[in-house]
Amino acid sequence: MSPGQKQEDLQQLGATMTAEYFTYKGVLFPGVNYSPETLKYLENEFQVQDNDIFNITYPKSGTVWMLEILSLIRCEGDPDWVRSVLNWERAPWVENQSGLEAALKYPPPRLLTSHLPVQLFPKSLQRSKAKIIYTLRCPRDVLVSLYHFTHVLRIFKCPSSMDTFLEDFLSGNVPYGSWFDHVTGWMGLKGNENFFSITYEELQQDLPGSVRRICRFLGKELSEEQLAAVVENASFQSMKGNKMSNFSQLSDEFMNRQKGEFMRKGICGDWRNHLSEAQSQRFDTVYQERMQCLGVTFPWD
Ligand code: A3P
Repeated sequence: MSPGQKQEDLQQLGATMTAEYFTYKGVLFPGVNYSPETLKYLENEFQVQDNDIFNITYPKSGTVWMLEILSLIRCEGDPDWVRSVLNWERAPWVENQSGLEAALKYPPPRLLTSHLPVQLFPKSLQRSKAKIIYTLRCPRDVLVSLYHFTHVLRIFKCPSSMDTFLEDFLSGNVPYGSWFDHVTGWMGLKGNENFFSITYEELQQDLPGSVRRICRFLGKELSEEQLAAVVENASFQSMKGNKMSNFSQLSDEFMNRQKGEFMRKGICGDWRNHLSEAQSQRFDTVYQERMQCLGVTFPWD
């Protein structure tokens, strides 16, 4: 959103501005590097190509981990690409301005990333054979990871406490909107042959087996040696030490490194260290209410 954006323009696009975020079709987005025009273009005009591979997640669900896995699969385990090219260039986030520019210049076959909820995704997906990999994570761990990240990434508003953030998260008053809407929306594609879903917890529990399943979905055959190289180079420690993957190259304008780092803990169940009994119960009540319609059981259920 450019600072000079006129209020009438925003209204025409169905957008309103809050302090540091704007709302597009009911979903919050950061005001920096995002704009209603880009989102509108993406939804209506962006052409998804049949050989595109989309890495889709709600934020903090394992986006960058999956991005690394897909990059390494593409190179048959050879780590040269992941060690020499920034992750946001290997698989740009299509919904922000710089990511969209990179996606439009990307020679096919493209590897692209998105946090968009399904209702804002390019409409041209419906006519395409592009492959979608949707990664989900225990929402309490997403909440905790996002809570920490709001302190690190300067384009996010810092919540005053976990209590207020919990309520914002549960009501979808956070960037990219409601986790519940995101998951129920995208999981509505389950059963389509170009849609594959996996959880962060499955990746943690059995990375080699998960990589095998992803390869099967992509129609990519790797030798055992190549598969072992994917697993090794996509480990938390490898990624933490890789400056092309750990966001150490993102400018200080965006990252407040005194508050933490992108590769934080990389574990399952950290929410137990951060949510009180009352917060956990409050989460449960909303979770039961919102998720019962989906009829899918997740590792965290
Ligand atoms: P934590 O904050 O819980 O540590 P996203 O990429 O969607 O923003 O998700 C970021 C989360 O994924 C962070 O979680 C980060 O540490 C974790 N992560 C990134 N790479 C990982 C890896 N190789 N193994 C395990 N967790 C990883």
